[in-house]
Amino acid sequence: MKKVITYGTFDLFHIGHLNILKRAKELGDYLVVAVSSDAFNAIKGKKCAIPDDERMAIVEAIKYVDEVIPENSWDQKISDIQEHNIDIFVMGDDWTGQFDFLNDYCKVVYLSRTPDISTTKIKKELKLK
Ligand code: CTP
Repeated sequence: MKKVITYGTFDLFHIGHLNILKRAKELGDYLVVAVSSDAFNAIKGKKCAIPDDERMAIVEAIKYVDEVIPENSWDQKISDIQEHNIDIFVMGDDWTGQFDFLNDYCKVVYLSRTPDISTTKIKKELKLK
């Protein structure tokens, strides 16, 4: 069985999120998604509209997703890959090159982002209304 992992915040879940989860799952048989915790977002200076338990519940309900884990720090990726026996690490191409060091542990794949949609864009547009 080929296992895939990907990471993200998934705030105000949108079509770009759905597309990347679908495409990540198509690369293997079992998809693990690490959803950033509110505490980790605070470290990154990011504030979500939706709390982490609800973002995790939403991602877990997506049919392409087999397992959700919390992302609590920048440096948990190697241990996640080892503990979950991951074959493929997937990120959107906004991160191209930044996780190449994980090639020592599994295959690293960057998928193109869905154009013209992001949580940031949705937040900006809502503020205009
Ligand atoms: N993603 C994507 N296409 C988009 C938006 C996001 O493929 N249009 C992917 C990202 O590359 C990442 C995952 O979805 O692998 C989770 O992204 P996240 O940062 O949670 O979503 P964004 O909409 O990019 O959020 P923000 O605007 O806050 O950065």
